[in-house]
Amino acid sequence: MDSLHVQDDLKHVLYTKEQIQDRVKGLAEEIDADYAGRDVLLVGVLKGAVMVMADLSRALQSHVTMDWMAVSSYGSGTQSSGVVRILKDLETDLMGKHVLIVEDIIDSGLTLSWLKANLISRGPASVEICTLLRKPDAAKVEIDVKYVGFEIPSEFVVGYGLDFAEKYRNLDFIGTLAPHVYS
Ligand code: PRP
Repeated sequence: MDSLHVQDDLKHVLYTKEQIQDRVKGLAEEIDADYAGRDVLLVGVLKGAVMVMADLSRALQSHVTMDWMAVSSYGSGTQSSGVVRILKDLETDLMGKHVLIVEDIIDSGLTLSWLKANLISRGPASVEICTLLRKPDAAKVEIDVKYVGFEIPSEFVVGYGLDFAEKYRNLDFIGTLAPHVYS
């Protein structure tokens, strides 16, 4: 869905379809160069990472394997708490693998901090993180993120996988939501 169809729900468009595609291509080039000669397992975190996983994997020029996890972070409303429950686990044995976690957004960092530690405990050769968006002002824990698409202010963003009440995930751009939608 494009921005014309949700104009009334938006404050503004943060990144257009073209800007996202350019940045994802850039991330793919970095990843191709860094992992040259090594097999990478991309781990997508459902549901938000579906779009970035689909585009990033297709922009890579090397073979990768892909697997998915679904986690739920206990917390009040939109705030995550750091207490994470696995809703769907990986099917892949991580022993000796180079793992690259693919995320749509890092907000407090609590989910990813837990997830990275959890995957490291499974004996992989390496675990790195690639996220399309990061809100540095919202960080509650320090977490080493190797690949960041865009650093954004702490505003409510939707689109390209990101939802509000499960809506807006299928926007082909990223926008900030107008306050009347969520207040
Ligand atoms: C989002 C995002 C991360 C997490 C980041 O997922 O995909 O997993 O929140 O927040 P944090 O840095 O504050 O921990 P969400 O729980 O909204 O689930 P979804 O991907 O299914 O929309």
